[in-house]
Amino acid sequence: FGSNVVYFKSIDSTQTKAHELARQGAKHGTIVIANEQTNGKGRLGRSWFSNEGKGIWMSILLRPSFSYNEAPQITLFASIILTNALRSLYGIDIRIKWPNDLYFEKKKIAGILTEMHGEQDQIHYLIIGIGINTHKTKYPLELKQKAGSLEEFINQNPKRIEILCKFLEQFEKNYELFHQKGFAPFFDEYNQLLLKKGTPIVVTQSTSFIYGQIYGVDENGYLIVKKENGEMIKVVSGDITI
Ligand code: BTN
Repeated sequence: FGSNVVYFKSIDSTQTKAHELARQGAKHGTIVIANEQTNGKGRLGRSWFSNEGKGIWMSILLRPSFSYNEAPQITLFASIILTNALRSLYGIDIRIKWPNDLYFEKKKIAGILTEMHGEQDQIHYLIIGIGINTHKTKYPLELKQKAGSLEEFINQNPKRIEILCKFLEQFEKNYELFHQKGFAPFFDEYNQLLLKKGTPIVVTQSTSFIYGQIYGVDENGYLIVKKENGEMIKVVSGDITI
C-alpha cells in the first residue's frame, strides 16, 4: 500500500478517479488522494462535502480474491482501522455508527463508501473511499447539525499526513488477516467500538421506519436492533439515524 499514490490538488471525486484507474489496470493498493473534491460522493447517492484542505479525501483500490458477499464487510474492517488510528493519535472516544460512519459524540467526523466491480463469485476490484473531516470549516446548512471536524474536539492542529500514515500502516498490517479469515477476527473489536448499546435509533428501510435500540452486530456485520416491544431484528442494509 502506498507505493502507488496519485495526488490531486483538486479533482471531482477520488472515487471516480480510482474507478477510472482500476479500469486501466492500476495495481492493488493504489491510492488516490486529493486536497479538494468538487463533486465528492457519499453513501446512498448523497454528496460529500470536501472543502479544500479541510480533510483527507482518498480512495484505495484493492484487488482481493473474495466474492461479492464477503466484500461489504471490508467497509466495517476499514472503519475499525480508522477509528483505532484516530483514537490512538488523539485519545478521543470516537465510535462507529453502523455500518461505517465515525462519530464523536453527536458529530460525524468521517465516512466510508465502498464500491465494487466484478461478478458474483469473484470481484475484479473494490474501492474504499474515505472522507475524514480534519479541519474546521463552514458546513452548508443541511450538514451543520450533524457534521464535525477533528479539530473541534482535540487540543491541537490535526496533521493530515500523520493520520494518513497511521491509517495506512494499520490497514496494511491487518489486511491479510481480513483477507484470509474475513470479519470474524474483528467482530469483537467492532462491537466494542460501536455506538453504545442502548442508543435509541431509527432504522430506515425503503419506506418504513423502525424504532429501537442498538444491540450490537452479529458475525456477519449485520446490525441487531432491539425494537420497542422487545423483539430483536437484524438489519442487513439501509441507514440508521441516532
Ligand atoms: C458517507 O456517505 O458517509 C461516505 C463518504 C465517503 C467520502 C469519500 S471522500 C473520498 C472518496 N471520494 C468520494 O467522492 N467519496 C469518498
